[in-house]
Amino acid sequence: MSIDQEVSRRRTFAIISHPDAGKTTLTEKLLMYAGAIHIAGSVKARKASRHATSDWMEIEKQRGISVASSVMQMEYRDCVINLLDTPGHQDFSEDTYRVLTAVDAALMVIDAANGVEAQTLRLLEVCRARNTPIVTFVNKMDREVREPLDLLDEIERTLGMTTIPFTWPVGMGKNFHGVCDLQNNGMRVFQPGSDRVDSENEVIASFDDPQIQQRFGAGLSTAMQEIDLIKGASPTFDHAAFLAGKQTPVFFGSAINNFGVREILDALVDLAPPPESRNAIQREVQPDEKKFSGMVFKIQANMNLAHRDRIAFVRVCSGHFKRGMNLKVARNGKDIRTSTVVSFLSQRRDILEEAYPGDIIGIPNHGTLQLGDTLTEGEVLQFTGLPFFAPEIFRTVEIADPLRSKQLKLGLAQLGEEGAIQVFRPHLGNMLLLGAVGTLQFEVVAHRLQHEYGVAARIASAKYQLARWITCDDPRELQRFIEANAHRIAYDAVDAPTFLASFGAELSVAEENWPAIRFHKLREHA
Ligand code: G4P
Repeated sequence: MSIDQEVSRRRTFAIISHPDAGKTTLTEKLLMYAGAIHIAGSVKARKASRHATSDWMEIEKQRGISVASSVMQMEYRDCVINLLDTPGHQDFSEDTYRVLTAVDAALMVIDAANGVEAQTLRLLEVCRARNTPIVTFVNKMDREVREPLDLLDEIERTLGMTTIPFTWPVGMGKNFHGVCDLQNNGMRVFQPGSDRVDSENEVIASFDDPQIQQRFGAGLSTAMQEIDLIKGASPTFDHAAFLAGKQTPVFFGSAINNFGVREILDALVDLAPPPESRNAIQREVQPDEKKFSGMVFKIQANMNLAHRDRIAFVRVCSGHFKRGMNLKVARNGKDIRTSTVVSFLSQRRDILEEAYPGDIIGIPNHGTLQLGDTLTEGEVLQFTGLPFFAPEIFRTVEIADPLRSKQLKLGLAQLGEEGAIQVFRPHLGNMLLLGAVGTLQFEVVAHRLQHEYGVAARIASAKYQLARWITCDDPRELQRFIEANAHRIAYDAVDAPTFLASFGAELSVAEENWPAIRFHKLREHA
């Protein structure tokens, strides 16, 4: 198959949801429908055992949250579908944001009883900033939930997207009878049970038969009225508006009962976009270009403690990846060996031999690769768009045993490069400063310093409350600003100067007094 054929059959997406909406359940069912049943089992086992068999994320067992993202690949119809998992806990949202830069579409799972919840809202903002197309799945229709019209209204109001229902529920909870297909008419009848596949579900083609009306009672007549209302009031599905993130197709179902899952896979294949061009500072890169390019969007250190290895998660952006090929880090021209690339959870259990745009490859390395790095066959390219967010919480870090300070430095540098935490070196003094978006990140860092680097670190509160990266067209003016505010300046992992403030007012004053200096909440790439 040619590169453009491989590109056009790729779909790469992530699920965004609030914890407990049903992401794990749906992931498992998607994999099952795509035929990767043994993988589906392992997803469930993974959540159940919290990685009981592997020690590299012991913290995850303890906290019962998914710290690490992973990648799953499945084949459905003629498509190769890559599903990127995202951490559930909001304190790791930075990690999630970066994962979202590596996908071409997102699946939003909403608990029909709870509607749009906080975490979904935050993640959706990131998708919207990038115009990521969103498919919506309203889950748990087998429970007593909110009225579907009310839910759609909430999605439209809070998320600013036009909802286009593709299916419509008949009843809910104990009286959930199934969904009507708004595109092709007819109704698929719901039957509870998680061991059946929905191709076995009864399909009703026409509602003319009075017996059908009788069988489903008030639920069906209400659904019919609602469908009439929707058909009259809402616009028709516009693929371009979906691709621009302005319309979202909505499906109703119950993941745990395998109901509505196939529609989601079909929507991904039929509606979601294949990999598209990506922007680099130098030029736009087309996916079907012959030469390979890829972007590091996640780094996971110490997957195996014995080896101190790190895996860089690389999204293939163009070309054809072949194991063993010679790649260069565009930032510094260093060579990367690709003889031992890791394949993630995939139907093919063997070592990864090749990959195409949209696929994710894992490259073991010892620190050569950083978040945001671009890999090429030699061309100097830097993809844009990988966000680093200004930390909102700061801590200092001290160690009990000064003899371990080298390990502390190493640990913090590695955890910083991985994006687990942001590490700042103050302009004055030696005490390192840690910055995070959620407090749980500090706990993870303390735990990992102890377990992975043998450093007992004491993490104490720091006086700062906000940070802004600073830039200026005139380097001398930037230097003057740094000198004048020396006690409030620190440098991040890539030595970008940062202004730290204890109060919002300090920032306002600085902005007023130094009009030539720009203060950034977001830093993209190195
Ligand atoms: P998450 O990954 O988004 O956190 O959610 P997860 O899939 O773990 O689902 C959260 C809970 O919701 C689970 O129950 C799961 O069984 C349940 N659930 C998922 N889909 C449906 C559905 O369609 N209908 C109903 N009624 N429940 C659903 P739990 O009790 O927390 O866990 P478990 O003991 O069932 O594993």
